[in-house]
Amino acid sequence: MEPEKKQVKNLGILTGGGDCPGLNAVIRAVVKTAGIYGYSVIGIRNGWKGIIEGDVEPLTEFSVTGILPKGGTILGTSRTNPFKTEEQTQQMLLNIRKYGIDAIVAIGGDDTLSVASRLNELHVPVVGIPKTIDNDLSGTDYTFGFDTAVTIVTDAIDRLHTTAESHHRIMILEVMGRHTGWIATMAGIAGGADQILIPEVPFDIDDVCDGLKKRRYRGKKFSIVVVAEGAKPTDMKGFVTSSTKVDEFGHEQLGGIGHLLGKAIEERIDVETRVTVLGHVQRGGSPTAHDRVLATRYGVNAVKQIHEGNYGMMVALQGNKIVAVPLCEALTQKNVDTDLYEMARIFY
Ligand code: F6P
Repeated sequence: MEPEKKQVKNLGILTGGGDCPGLNAVIRAVVKTAGIYGYSVIGIRNGWKGIIEGDVEPLTEFSVTGILPKGGTILGTSRTNPFKTEEQTQQMLLNIRKYGIDAIVAIGGDDTLSVASRLNELHVPVVGIPKTIDNDLSGTDYTFGFDTAVTIVTDAIDRLHTTAESHHRIMILEVMGRHTGWIATMAGIAGGADQILIPEVPFDIDDVCDGLKKRRYRGKKFSIVVVAEGAKPTDMKGFVTSSTKVDEFGHEQLGGIGHLLGKAIEERIDVETRVTVLGHVQRGGSPTAHDRVLATRYGVNAVKQIHEGNYGMMVALQGNKIVAVPLCEALTQKNVDTDLYEMARIFY
């Protein structure tokens, strides 16, 4: 059911889930645009945790001065699920009323936006903004943060190339990508990887080794393998994890596929192999110009949606246009485009 359309005075804004470059650019854009419409902005600290705990702060033009190029989020973030207990849900709803929040801009990936979607069903006006370095949200061509991550990974591949070539080694680069291999695929193509392994396509270790051997026979004495953290061999059921802990949305902490693969390759091919795990470097630092512009466009458009009473939507990039799509549409996983992945094989 549509939330009731009442006059908006106060806009709440929060950033949830894993941070990514561009979050501050969105916050700045939301605060500045809200000012134009005459709305006050209430910053909710640390994702949904902040609204449960009543941890909020007013955001003014002054609060957002100079934050455009800064990585991370001035609001802080967490992976808190306010629907985990009824008590937390009630506390969240109570605080939304207590702080006079008329509508919320929720910046996040699938977890944060799934909460936003449920809140909207509870008649709290919400607009979502698609954030994740993984680029795995449907309804949008790109999430912000992705371009920066791909740029960082491409740079890492370039650097691994020179050392791999000098030592005639196989270099494995493990990158982020829990359920989808967008970062691995795009950076792998940009960096000229010799094998790209992604969660969407389980791999056979012997096939990977055959490919690497063929390259050697062709006189290429080194190889670069990019593997997404969520990729797995065909005979493995679960993910390779680095911890037994799960977050409030039930996600395991992934990591380790690179080392597993490195060991398996060395057992099958007599070539020195080294493994690099890029980890959170991919999420840190300043956003690229592309992400700054995209984040800014998303922020401006999200306030516009609220102004028009268009709730329960996520702003999205389709072609070169910013549009609004229903939040529930965005919550299905967007897998790597098969044609793109197949194209990468031409260069193995
Ligand atoms: O969802 C984005 C992401 O960067 C994933 O690629 C990765 O699996 C996860 O976050 C890591 O989360 P954390 O920061 O909790 O270790």
